[in-house]
Amino acid sequence: MSSLLIDNIGELVTNVAGTGEGGRLGIRRDAAILVEEDRVAWLGPARYAPAAARRIDADGAAVLPGFVDSHAHLVFAGDRAAEFAARMAGQPYTGGGIRTTVAATRAASDDTLRGTVRRLRAEALRQGTTTIEIKSGYGLNVADEARSLRIAAEVTGETTFLGAHVVPTEYADRPDDYVGLVCGPMLHAAAPYAKWVDVFCERGAFDADHARAILTCGQAAGLGVRLHANQLGPGPGVRLAVELGAASADHCTHLDDADVDALAGSATVATLLPGAEFSTRSPYPDARRLLDARVTVALATDCNPGSSYTSSMPFCVALAVREMGMTPAEAVWAATAGGARALRRDDVGVLAPGARADLMILDAPSHLHLAYRPGVPLIRQVLHNGVPR
Ligand code: NIG
Ligand code: FE
Repeated sequence: MSSLLIDNIGELVTNVAGTGEGGRLGIRRDAAILVEEDRVAWLGPARYAPAAARRIDADGAAVLPGFVDSHAHLVFAGDRAAEFAARMAGQPYTGGGIRTTVAATRAASDDTLRGTVRRLRAEALRQGTTTIEIKSGYGLNVADEARSLRIAAEVTGETTFLGAHVVPTEYADRPDDYVGLVCGPMLHAAAPYAKWVDVFCERGAFDADHARAILTCGQAAGLGVRLHANQLGPGPGVRLAVELGAASADHCTHLDDADVDALAGSATVATLLPGAEFSTRSPYPDARRLLDARVTVALATDCNPGSSYTSSMPFCVALAVREMGMTPAEAVWAATAGGARALRRDDVGVLAPGARADLMILDAPSHLHLAYRPGVPLIRQVLHNGVPR
């Protein structure tokens, strides 16, 4: 059996509340962690560390669970840098650019799409992301949605069918027919490659009735529910997510008190995506309000070519701390354990015996540096499935 000991860890973030130092991060000092195959086998004080075949000296650095990025759109082709530049010159973001990416994605070869997915997955891994969710949503016909998910499934088990991203141009005057297509042949072709179903529930995309119909069909096909909700304005998305028992309501930028109450009384995670507000120059969601109401909050990148072209979880942590009222500890938890909750996973986002050996060694003595040193490449080494990358 292959065994690997990481010792001389100055600060080990376990996310096991009630162990080590108080608080949700479960911090241990002067620790070591033993990895066997793809799992954590033991962790504890460095002086009690067992022997192992190989050893990594963390040299006093911080070690954390790998980031769990629970929201990304990596299967696409084309470039929308000019749209970003226009926004920075004052144009608003409407979501209409999605159709530009759909045209480019449909025209791209499998290998072109695969190359982009692999490049972005590798880019995310270098920045500490060991678990990533990937959505379809730039195919919007039966063949291209199924193809997008097939390619996504080559790099992650967390795949999401987002055939209801927007109504494609060819169905512009008959949205009911498009919903029928999504619930019928498109879901049938996509479901073998998908774990989740998602809808962009927003003015200009899908209303609550259409979203409920599609999510219910997805549930009947065995998929778990997640929802793009309340991104561009107030609306019914968050309450619909809670009604359907969704794992996550994503964006949550425009919430009223009833939305916050609904989330607080539910098992639905509020996933906040500050890269989108950064890149669309929009007001950030109020994470403090959600945390004070005891809502479970996750942070994710929303990596996509339109509204948030970043794969960097450290960047999102820094934005959440600086702009959204989160403490560094809350943001780090949300980007690791929170993401795991949003994917209903208990084997990632945590470091404990039996958990996946997915972790990162920082070029820094504590998790605080992720927000304290924004824009700096602080991820010294990543272990994914127990293997140093
Ligand atoms: O999460 N909101 C819908 N989908 C993406 C935007 C996609 C795009 O602009 O291409 C989002 O922000
Ligand atoms: Fe998104």
